[in-house]
Amino acid sequence: MTMTSALLFERIDRTQPVQSARSSIDNDYYEGIDELWWDPTGPAAILHAMNRPRLDFYLRALGGVRGALVLDAGCGGGLVAKGLAEAGATVVGVDRSAGSLGVARRAIAGGVGHFAPVRGQLEQLSFANGSFDAVIAADVLEHIPDLPAAVAEISRVLAPGGSLAFDTINRTAWAWVTALWGAERLLGCIPCGTHDWRLFIRPVELDRLLRRVGLEPVEVTGLVPRIGPQLLARALTRRHIPVPEFATSRDRRASYLGHYRRVSP
Ligand SMILES: C[S@@+](CC[C@H](N)C(=O)[O-])C[C@H]1O[C@@H](n2cnc3c(N)ncnc32)[C@H](O)[C@@H]1O
Repeated sequence: MTMTSALLFERIDRTQPVQSARSSIDNDYYEGIDELWWDPTGPAAILHAMNRPRLDFYLRALGGVRGALVLDAGCGGGLVAKGLAEAGATVVGVDRSAGSLGVARRAIAGGVGHFAPVRGQLEQLSFANGSFDAVIAADVLEHIPDLPAAVAEISRVLAPGGSLAFDTINRTAWAWVTALWGAERLLGCIPCGTHDWRLFIRPVELDRLLRRVGLEPVEVTGLVPRIGPQLLARALTRRHIPVPEFATSRDRRASYLGHYRRVSP
């Protein structure tokens, strides 16, 4: 799908479920990544490049996780879960991909912290109400067609006063250029079909959904690639565009980070 056709012909509203026939995302792709999850130059290169600034944001948002029970929703190969466990949290990682859960378990086993993998879908979680002190949804919300169901489940399993922290991708022309065309075609670091522009989420849509299920905003901020003279020089001299480092920013046109707190019982 081109962005033009989506802009011209499709009414997209992420506060409603998107029919699966109207999106084309390949979530099965993660099943085959295997140990490449932990290769910083492999298919998860962008997640690696984003990992330090988003982990810093999550840990600050959660205000110390030692002894806390944290759900890493859509944990993949455990890039975020490992950081949370090393900071002292007991992490439950839920993911639809059994292969990815195995990678996460092996990455965290033998290191610091505790991790329990659970296979499941965010739209229907198998945990009791109010089970978790915090939920992290890192780069997963934009993979889920039925976003209202996933958000309702996240809120349900969160204890009153608990935090939800996430990173996701805005649905703008700039996000199409950078997160889709840039990552899939220019850098070639993720295969085409890993994302669908129609599933990207405007901050205002996510805010509406989260408030509806009893979550109030604490902070929302941008996450941008650092494209400076050094990166451009390396691209020109080596004829290869490296994956840039990321940093938090006021610019929310593409990726953004959020922290919400559950206020209602
Ligand atoms: C882009 S990866 C992000 C992984 C990890 N959170 C990170 O940021 O490093 C998306 C992950 O979400 C998982 N996923 C996609 N849809 C899901 C769903 N409906 N329920 C649970 N997991 C899902 C995929 O299997 C994949 O591991």
